[in-house]
Formats: sequence, structure tokens, C-alpha cells
Amino acid sequence: MSRIGELLKAMTLPEKLGQLTMTASSYAVTGPVIAGDSTESIRDGTLGNLLNMVGADHVHEMQRLAVEHSRLKIPLLIGLDVIHGHRTLFPVPLAEAGAFDRELWQQTAREAALEAAADGLAMTFAPMLDVARDPRWGRGVEGPGEDSWLAARIAEAKVAGFQGADLGSPGSLAAVAKHYCAYAPVTAGREYASVDISERSVREVYLPPFGAAVAAGVAAVMPAFTDLAGIPLTAHVELLQGWLRGRLGFDGVIVSDYNAIGELVRHGIAADLTQAAALALKAGVDIDMMAQAYRLGLPPALERGLVRIEQVDAAVLRVLTLKERLGLFDDPYRRGRTPDTAEARARRRRLARAAAVRCVVMLKNAAALPLAGGLRTLAVIGPLADAPAEMRGPWWAAGEGRDHVSVVAGLKRALGEGRVVHAPGVEIDSAATEGIAAAVEACRQAEATVLCLGEAATMSGEAASRAHLGLPGEQRALATAVCASARAAGRPVIAVLFSGRPLIVPWLIEQADAVLAAWFLGCEAGNALADLITGRESPSARTPITWPRALGQIPIFFGERPSGRPANPQDHFTSKYLDVPNEPQFPFGHGLTYGRFTLANLRVAPARVTERDVIEVQVDVVNVGERAAEETVFVFTHDVVASVARPLLELKGFAKAALAPGESRSVRLELPAGELRFLGPDLAPRFEPGEVEILVGPCAERAQLLVSRIELISG
Ligand code: BGC
Repeated sequence: MSRIGELLKAMTLPEKLGQLTMTASSYAVTGPVIAGDSTESIRDGTLGNLLNMVGADHVHEMQRLAVEHSRLKIPLLIGLDVIHGHRTLFPVPLAEAGAFDRELWQQTAREAALEAAADGLAMTFAPMLDVARDPRWGRGVEGPGEDSWLAARIAEAKVAGFQGADLGSPGSLAAVAKHYCAYAPVTAGREYASVDISERSVREVYLPPFGAAVAAGVAAVMPAFTDLAGIPLTAHVELLQGWLRGRLGFDGVIVSDYNAIGELVRHGIAADLTQAAALALKAGVDIDMMAQAYRLGLPPALERGLVRIEQVDAAVLRVLTLKERLGLFDDPYRRGRTPDTAEARARRRRLARAAAVRCVVMLKNAAALPLAGGLRTLAVIGPLADAPAEMRGPWWAAGEGRDHVSVVAGLKRALGEGRVVHAPGVEIDSAATEGIAAAVEACRQAEATVLCLGEAATMSGEAASRAHLGLPGEQRALATAVCASARAAGRPVIAVLFSGRPLIVPWLIEQADAVLAAWFLGCEAGNALADLITGRESPSARTPITWPRALGQIPIFFGERPSGRPANPQDHFTSKYLDVPNEPQFPFGHGLTYGRFTLANLRVAPARVTERDVIEVQVDVVNVGERAAEETVFVFTHDVVASVARPLLELKGFAKAALAPGESRSVRLELPAGELRFLGPDLAPRFEPGEVEILVGPCAERAQLLVSRIELISG
């Protein structure tokens, strides 16, 4: 019998339930504070998993209790939300999505895993794969943006990065694909609210990224807090047992979200913890995070016949199997034994800077950037100009604010201390305006102004929905005063926006000469922004989410289906608003560079395509600008006539071309025709003969796309 088979045979019920339980140690960066009870439970073998602990010494101390003092010596599984870096913070996931760079997505996850594993951790609650089309919801910042195909590519890269080639190696973490699924379309963008969307949307939009994560070998999956049409995901038999385990063949661990099993009572589908525990176990949830529902609720549930011991055993086996795959039985101290080196830390900082450079989206540039050389004084204004800790963004794991480079610090380093003047003007979110006059005065003395505005790091992420998506506090008053004064003096204002979502600031986009979306860039934020502002590097990122121009346009995304009455200003009875255009402020994929690109000569072959063919898409890209830069080319499709109305655009690929001024290149992409299948009226995938448009260009605005048609044929 296998090691874990033997163990299972020897386990008492409380020991089994301990393996199905995860509780938090509220860590302080200097050390964890473990409740005495948890320590006791680890020792007596009734607690098998922990979250929120940092530091190899502390992790090993707890591990020692389990493997040296508990009866069966089963190692602990210890996890943390390592979302965009552990101690070294990289750009937030939404920002990183906009780099459209698979290698980068994987590299940052790999480095985060190495760093977290060196701290003793074995699991990260990432990647977050929630396709998010409503920027009121704060958690969009943790994920891939609005597109499902993009989310699936990120899923593959992140799982490969976190888990490495071998889950058992000392530098690998078990990844957790979350939150399964359709968490983002909460009612009115309000966190934790109910979700009610079509089965087609669930299958077409929200499930594919999880399919990709499972295909990439993800070790664990976390169900969403929310309900879908009345069934909370934590108890969703059809989606967990039927789809995830059945259709996708997932045999890893399902770990509940924080107290989510207990919350089944509040959802109103369980009368008490016993029923809640039974529902979650039967749906396939293996680990109960924080609810104590399994430890307290499963014994009476077993007695009452609500669950069977075989179901408990199957869950325990999955948890033990994961611990075995992680190498924890062979050497529970393998993670955290070798301390992180100075060289590794330096390598990570370099990666963090390169990543941050690749994640800034230049939304507008009226010849204000890069800054002219020889500038004598630059004013760096705004509440986010000298705010190192804010650069972390939400979910900073063990990242320390003091390790972060602010914009002021980065620009001082780049231009020289004496050439940068700074005034915050206002706070991020307060009614005070007394500082505005000094800020305007500082700008008056400078030849250009960098205006750093936006949200605090905690205004996005979990439990951070917003109903107004403008700038908080009195930042608009500051920006208006600064822009007016600069315009009068004929000097440029470069706005840098920090946020975990697209902000709705049409007035700023109008008034500022250049606008950079910096999202939250992590520890090297200030240096990376200085690299871009001074022209050492060119911006290259593209927004992975549509920027609305008005709140009432939400949800707004490029993958909408056509209307029977498309907008027509001449015709009253068409699909439009009376008071705002349909078009977004910036479409998905928008992002300027210091180069200028033209795309021409789209070639698509073959013209007639069977399901087994690979379609070759080629386009010539020329940098007609005066600076070297990198263009991103997107490939979209549109099925013109099908048995089910298809989205106006579907993303199917992207490629990058870094070109010197005057240089041209033919960019080539392959598109397997099988990817043109869609879910028919019966929701089964089908390849349907007929015409399909192939659209290629720099963003999801149709007017900017080159179009070619192919014909799908059977056979
Ligand atoms: C979040 C999860 C996270 C968990 C553990 C929950 O509140 O929804 O995304 O992994 O906490 O920290």
C-alpha cells in the first residue's frame, strides 16, 4: 500500500478533518502570531494546513510541530496570497496583462515562487482568473482584464511560472486557480453580491481560463464566494463535480475561499454549519479555509447520514497527494532551507523594473513625452508622487512600503536631485484643498509638470467596489488648477494615473498633454516611470480592459454581440444613448508608443479552411515614427453568419514587433482553425461552415483594423 494509503488507514476522524482544514496565522512581518489553539491542534494532528504566514523560521517552527510532534507526522501545507510578488513586488496582474508578454507573465510568477518558497511557503492563492468587465468591482486589479482568451493564456503562463517544471522542487509553489467561476459579474459591480448570467456566458467567457489552468496542471482551484443563479459556487455540484472534476478531469485539491463554507448559511442554502459542511464536501470542496465547518460540522453530518466517510476519505487523499507531490513528506523543510541570496534579490529588482516599464499604458501624448532633454526644473505634483507604499497596489504579500521607489525618487535619480520640485497638493481622499496653491506655485517655477493622481492601493482589490470611478477627494480640483496654470504658461502637464481599474476622467484626458496609466507597478514604479518619461524606454503596454467615458456605459467591452439595430445617429430607434456616445474613452488594446506604426498588406491563407487547417495570418508593420518602439498586433475574428449570434470581435492572438525608426517587418501568426469553433444553440462546440472575418490591428476599435475574409468548409 502507498504511503498515503497507509496513513489514511491509520487516521482517526479528527485527524482526517484536520487535513481538510486550513486556518490563518495572523502574521506580522516580523513574525507570526499563532493562536495557542492552532499550535495545539497542529501538535495533536487535527490541523493540517495554514495560511498567512511569512518567514522560513516561523514556517519551519510550525512544520516541526506537525512532523516531529504529531502522532502521524503529516507535514503542514502553508499558503499565502502571492499575487504579484512576495517580497519583491511586480506590477499588479491587471497591469501585467497589458504587457501582452507570455514570457514576462511566466517569469514574474517564477521569481515570486522562488522568493516565497525561500520563505518556506508551498502554496499561493493565485492566479486569479476572473474575467472582469465592470470596473466598479475592485477585484479586476487582481486578474487578467476583460477578455477570456487572454485570461486563458495568462493562466497557462502563471501556472507554469508558479509551479515550475516539478512541483516537488524547493522553488515551486502549488498554484490555486481562483475564483471558480463567474465571480466578476456581481450585481451592480458590488463585491460579494449575487451573480445571475446566462449559461452561455459562463461557458464561453468565464470557464475557459479555468480550463486552461487545469490543462496546464494547476494543483488547486478555489471556488468563488458568490452564488450563480442561486447556487453558491462553494456548493455547486454541477460546476465543481460535473464540470471541473468531470468534464475537465481535474483531480487536484479544491480549497474553499475564506470562511466560504460557513457563509453558505448566510446565502440561505444551509441551516447551520453541519449542513453547510455537508453541502461543500458533497460538491467536492476538499479544504475548508477558516470556517471550522468541516471540523465541527462533518462529525454530526456523518452521524446524520448527510455525507459518507468515503467522501471524507477521498478529500483527505487528494490533500495528502498534493502534499506528496510538493515533496513535503520527503523533506518538509525543503522550502526555506536555503536562504534567498543577494544576487537573486538583485535579479528580481531588475525584472521588476523591466516589467514595470512594459506595463505602463500611454493613453494620450500630444507631443509632451518624452520630456525634452536639458530640462532645468520638473515639478512632480500630486498625492501619489511621493507615496512609496502606495506603489505596491493591493495584495502586497510580504512587500514592504519602504522598499518601493516613488515617482519623485525615480525622477530625482534620473534627472538629478536638484532638478525636481515636489508638492503633494492634496491627499488621495480628503476634502482639504489648502495645499493646491503651493502645488500650482511649484509648477509655475518648472518647465514641465508630472501630475501623479489616482486611487490609494486599498481602493481596489477585495471588498473595494466603487460607485464613482473618478478621482477621489479633491484631486480634480488640484489637476484643474495645475492644468490651467500650465496651459497659461505654455508648459506641458503629464498626468500619471495610479489605479486598480480604468478611471472615468474624460476632463483630465482633455486637459493634460499626456496621460500614462500606471496601474500599480510594484517596487520599481518610480524608476520605471522615469525610464519612460525621460525617453530611455518607450511605452509599449496596451490596456487589457476598455476605458469607459461615462459610468452609465458599464459594462463596456469589445466582445459584445451585435444589436439588430446598430447605432445610427440618423435613426432614433437604434442602440445608443441620448447623452453619451457608445464608443469608449479608450478601446481594449489601446496604448501609444514613442514610435508610430502603420499596418498594411494583410494576408490570410488558406482562403477556404477546414477544421484541421492552420490559418496563417501575416501583416506588414512599419515604424514610420522617429523613435524605436514596440508595436502590438492583435488578431480578432468575427463569424459573420452563424446559428448563434457571435461577438463583434473575438480575440484569437497577438504578436509584438520591436522596430527601429523606418524599419519594417512582416509579422506572422498561426491560428488553428479549430479555435473558430463556437458553442452552438445546444451549447456544444461546433465548427460551422460559412464566412469568418479575420481582423488585424493595434486595438479593438474596428475602424483601425484591416479585414480579410475566409470561408470555413466542412471536411
Ligand atoms: C479572498 C481570496 C484569498 C483568501 C485568502 C479571501 O478573502 O477572496 O482571494 O485567496 O481570502 O487570503
